[in-house]
Amino acid sequence: MCGIFGFVSKEKINATPVIIDGLKRLEYRGYDSAGLALMTGRGIFCRKKAGRIFELEKVVGNNIESNIGIGQSRWATHGKPSDKNAHPHFSCDKKIYLVHNGIIENFKELRVKLEKRGHVFRSDTDTEVAAHLIEDFSKSYSFEEAVRLALKSIVGTYAFVIVNADNPTTMIVARNSSPLLVGLSDTHKFVASDASAILPHTRKVVYLHDGEFAILTPSDFRIATLDRKAVSRDQELIEWSQDEVKKNKFPHFMLKEIYEEPDAVENAIRGRLIVKDGLAKLGGLELVEDKIKRLNRVIISACGTAYLAGLTGEYMLEEYGEIPVEVEYASELRYKKQKFDARTALLSISQSGETADTLGALKEAKRKGALNLGLVNVVGSSIAREVDAGVYNHAGPEIGVASTKAFVSQLAVLSLLALFIGRQRDMSLVIGRRIASELSVLPDKMKRVLKEAPNIKKIARKYHKYDHFLYLGRKYNYPVALEGALKLKEVSYIHAEGYGAGEMKHGPIAMIDKNFPSMVIIPSDSMREKVLSNIQEIKARDGKVVAIATEGNKEISKIADDVIYIPKTLEMLTPMLSVMPLHLFAYYVGVMRGYDVDHPRNLAKAVSVE
Ligand code: M6R
Repeated sequence: MCGIFGFVSKEKINATPVIIDGLKRLEYRGYDSAGLALMTGRGIFCRKKAGRIFELEKVVGNNIESNIGIGQSRWATHGKPSDKNAHPHFSCDKKIYLVHNGIIENFKELRVKLEKRGHVFRSDTDTEVAAHLIEDFSKSYSFEEAVRLALKSIVGTYAFVIVNADNPTTMIVARNSSPLLVGLSDTHKFVASDASAILPHTRKVVYLHDGEFAILTPSDFRIATLDRKAVSRDQELIEWSQDEVKKNKFPHFMLKEIYEEPDAVENAIRGRLIVKDGLAKLGGLELVEDKIKRLNRVIISACGTAYLAGLTGEYMLEEYGEIPVEVEYASELRYKKQKFDARTALLSISQSGETADTLGALKEAKRKGALNLGLVNVVGSSIAREVDAGVYNHAGPEIGVASTKAFVSQLAVLSLLALFIGRQRDMSLVIGRRIASELSVLPDKMKRVLKEAPNIKKIARKYHKYDHFLYLGRKYNYPVALEGALKLKEVSYIHAEGYGAGEMKHGPIAMIDKNFPSMVIIPSDSMREKVLSNIQEIKARDGKVVAIATEGNKEISKIADDVIYIPKTLEMLTPMLSVMPLHLFAYYVGVMRGYDVDHPRNLAKAVSVE
């Protein structure tokens, strides 16, 4: 939700390409407008433009020398996407410029006060108050103190990057509940919402914590709390490689990331399976192993696709972990009267680790005494830092706004967790070995599903003009049906509904006719016969059916209009295979309908607003 970027360098450099490149790498976080501000010998040069970053690129030119610059790619919250609402925002005297990611909740009252003091506002955003507030304090205090006092007056979430023409070699950055990291190289310092933007320059980073601000100059970097306490923090090394954040030979990140799904599962299970003993080894949970043994309830909290991974995890943990599980939308959980105690674990699932709803629910559960566990992809993210213990899914950077490889790797970790908890309880060695050994060969089976891509593309071509779709699955594949429908909606704007196949007859069947095709997941498992009956019910009403079935199921090709085959595996692990054709189908349909699938309208990657 908004990508922010900045640099400070010892020498003057050709600054616009650096900022534009940083913003492009963060564009997936928000892409309705963009802007930059550069410190030049003749004051601050600022340009802002509605639309994608290439629109900004057209108006900034390519040869502005500067040694300090900031930029932002926006996802609108307050004020429509427009030139005037794009960041950076600036003070009346056009000396203080800043970019922001987050929401200033008390902006209205601050604005009224500042207007009474003569400040003139130029935008409809919440952000602009910060620039005027700093300007106001600057009349009596130093730049640093003015920023600190302004931050203390602000209620809400933020990552700020601030520059001041009167202090041309200083940049101040601050963080509260929105991500921000500082990258350090010998000649430059960078700030960014996430690591992908600074990878071309350095892998050495320092993460800022909530309630901290940092002062960056060409020769210095220091962190302090808003109460003026100096903070010393070690540098960390980013593990991601540059290649992981490039499209390489793929036309879109979404397709690249679907093709990375087998690797994502491989990376999630690497070093975590002891097949001969039927065990899962989860280092991140070692410290709380005894607490996990004593648990009598798990609540899974997440949003969007991560929530759907959680729903699948519910089946896994209940069947094999032998523990009752409830799955909640994080955005609802925090307002429920939930009883948490030491025998309840809250498992927060999040790719970005920055989703505001998931973080909010986690903080609430923490306050009530639950054991807080995390399943997070981005190392060092807010949720990863907030939990008591957790497991990283190691899917690598996911840039496509539609989550794909993160989903399968979340499922891989959830199946490891089911094995881990199950073996703490009554799961036999035989069952444990079966799960572990099947999980270890799953990435190869996933690669076989990718070979179906030409067939899936052909099917997408046949169906891409339909305006409605029904997605059906049962048990483990019920959440997969929901995920297939969500993905189609996100990247092709087609109306798609996901249902448990058994629920179809309780309502959705009324919609079925020849113009309302169904994608039905029917692996050869305990649900096969029941789902087959549901397909018959659709066919009896002239509905078209695309079946995702297990290799060897010849019968299905006689009933369904089209079939996509997946390899056989354990029922619990099927979702990691069955979701792949649905991801590919959504991708192809979105592209065939002419949409930019990496930047679906109205969406952003990390939703850091509530
Ligand atoms: O970063 P998170 O996993 O916490 O994000 C949760 C959702 O915002 C995310 O899954 C969203 O629904 C995706 N656009 C789905 O493709």
